[in-house]
Amino acid sequence: MSEQSTDLRETVRERYAAAAVKVTEGHAACCGPQPVEVDENFGSTLYAADERDALPAEAVAASLGCGNPTAVAELRDGERVLDLGSGGGIDVLLSDRRVGPTGKAYGLDMTDEMLALALANAEKAGATNVEFLKGTIEAIPLPANTIDVVISNCVINLSVDKPAVFAETFRVLKPGGRIGVTDVVGDDTLTTDQRAERGDYVGCIAGALSFAEYRQGLEAAGFTSIEIAPTHQVADGMHSAIVRATKPTAATTPTEATESADACCGVNACCTSGETSADPSLTVTEAKTASGCGCQN
Ligand SMILES: C[S@@+](CC[C@H](N)C(=O)[O-])C[C@H]1O[C@@H](n2cnc3c(N)ncnc32)[C@H](O)[C@@H]1O
Repeated sequence: MSEQSTDLRETVRERYAAAAVKVTEGHAACCGPQPVEVDENFGSTLYAADERDALPAEAVAASLGCGNPTAVAELRDGERVLDLGSGGGIDVLLSDRRVGPTGKAYGLDMTDEMLALALANAEKAGATNVEFLKGTIEAIPLPANTIDVVISNCVINLSVDKPAVFAETFRVLKPGGRIGVTDVVGDDTLTTDQRAERGDYVGCIAGALSFAEYRQGLEAAGFTSIEIAPTHQVADGMHSAIVRATKPTAATTPTEATESADACCGVNACCTSGETSADPSLTVTEAKTASGCGCQN
């Protein structure tokens, strides 16, 4: 990562660490959680009142998104959900309710202060099948093909490496898995400079992709059935949008494809009872003999 990207990510982290501290300190001072300052296009007003009322006040106060991804992702009982940039945990807690006791909701965030706030909120909410992970959305700390639905609320625009976010999202999703994201997206007619004139990077505006760029990024990662629909304007020519896409059922991740091609001795699952030859025209024994590598029983 370039020095400029590292600096930008650190600026984002500091901004959201300060937001988490503000909510936490408001609570500690016994004055109730202080809502973070956001205009009416962002935050908890974008959720239904009954959803907000059922959550800890600090989770609601820390809401900084631009939509309600749990509503757009149509979560079902038993599903495993991952929230990219989970902040104070509002969407993880709502996901937890939607997937029920047989499902699981993960939150991923890079900011310690947000993770601490989210954990405290999960405890207050009595949520038992949630887990918060520290890490970046450009290098998701979960295995491939393990998640049914990836959600995210106004975070992908903050990434300094969006192709990596799309590739990582594709990797962790199970074949047939889907994304249900809300994010800021710019009109295709605006240049990068014009988008930057409309708001700052940490405020979720300057780093936003255009509609065409978002679609191209998802397609390049392998997603299909892509829909990007604006919901409300957040600045001139900049919109909050619902993004949906699917990982095809027959998909393999680029990593899996490489692993298969480079399988030890040309044999998959080498030295286990489940061994198969990576080349269907060779038997396991032929592949091992031909390769001469050290992976022989
Ligand atoms: C705009 S807030 C949204 C929080 C939450 N989704 C919500 O709706 O309230 C952005 C969150 O994403 C996190 N974040 C930003 N960039 C990130 C990255 N590259 N990797 C992991 N987390 C990131 C920040 O720490 C912050 O908690």
